[in-house]
Amino acid sequence: MEEMKVNPYDVEGDVDYDRLVKEFGIKKIDEKLLKRIEKIAGEVHPYLRRGIFFAHRDLEKVLDAYEKGEKFFLYTGNGPSGPIHLGHYSIWSFVKWLQDKFNVELWFQFTDDEKFLYKNMTYDEIQDWMKDNMLDVIAMGFDPKKTHFLIDTKHANLMYPEAIKVAKKITFSTIKSAFGFTDSNNIGSIFYTAMQTVPCFLPNVLNNKNEYCLIPMAVDQDPHFRISRDVVEKLGHKKPSIIHAKFISPLTGATGKQSSSNSGKSILMTDDAKTVKKKINKHAFSGGQETVEEHRKKGGNVQTDVSCQWLKYFEHDDKKLADIYDKYSKGELLSGEVKGMLIEKLNAMLGEHQKRRATAEKQIDKFVYKN
Ligand code: TRP
Repeated sequence: MEEMKVNPYDVEGDVDYDRLVKEFGIKKIDEKLLKRIEKIAGEVHPYLRRGIFFAHRDLEKVLDAYEKGEKFFLYTGNGPSGPIHLGHYSIWSFVKWLQDKFNVELWFQFTDDEKFLYKNMTYDEIQDWMKDNMLDVIAMGFDPKKTHFLIDTKHANLMYPEAIKVAKKITFSTIKSAFGFTDSNNIGSIFYTAMQTVPCFLPNVLNNKNEYCLIPMAVDQDPHFRISRDVVEKLGHKKPSIIHAKFISPLTGATGKQSSSNSGKSILMTDDAKTVKKKINKHAFSGGQETVEEHRKKGGNVQTDVSCQWLKYFEHDDKKLADIYDKYSKGELLSGEVKGMLIEKLNAMLGEHQKRRATAEKQIDKFVYKN
């Protein structure tokens, strides 16, 4: 089996989340915390109930502050080097839920510098992807009055003075061991984590406040923030809190994560209904048996069946999902039928997204932070 690897620049193998919790030193979200979120927010998002957002750092601190009537802000981001897919969408739909439930500001970082430094692409190509990706972020429906885009190269005037303060407190050897870098990495990539740290506290610097920061993200980004948390505290800011998500599996099966550079096998936000149908029917790994007869007798495996797993993200009705899982396990539902349900669900969702996306370009200006 492929060795598990999880860091911002590499996700490989079968991800063992319990092992990650130990190795990263993060905490699992338990029943008690779920109850607390439910009490405050009035409901728990299905991603919390279903263990998709599964771990955290210091989430209690943000909730403590919130219960005392203090605000916090959300911070997340995107590295623009390819099209937005359902992996991004699922994380950001949860971010939107947080923004709506807690009525808070969202700072959204576009790391055009990062992708330029790490990918074999030109600066202009990255700028084009950034504009494209912004359309999808806007189409998520974030509140334009409470959402601010930070673009690393464009807002360098605000970010760089803070980034150097961060960078001065991080050694090359810390970076090497956190990201597995060697002497042959380019020097920009060594500096970059300082830029990703800045939005953890920049809103406080700009507004002369001292609010908590909560970062919803996929767990592969954690190595950046493990460094950030130490450093920002030394600079006199609050340590950011984090809530971590698991990866949605690629269409072809359970290892690694869905990726923009492998778009044939992931579903993109711009895919039309026919393409979605084709991709799922052709590529979605089936947990079913070889023949219909055998499937009726032995039933299917909901854990390995990608359509069943994806429905966990996109069928928010617990009863319906449980019913599908039950019937599939018993062989009453065939893989093809579950694929059909997933296709229908996704196409409805993508149709709505694409409608909003079509009018998003006019709004970019409203979202980009004005300084
Ligand atoms: N590095 C992330 C990426 O490659 C982008 C990013 C920047 C980010 N800041 C973040 C992601 C904060 C999550 C949270 O996509």
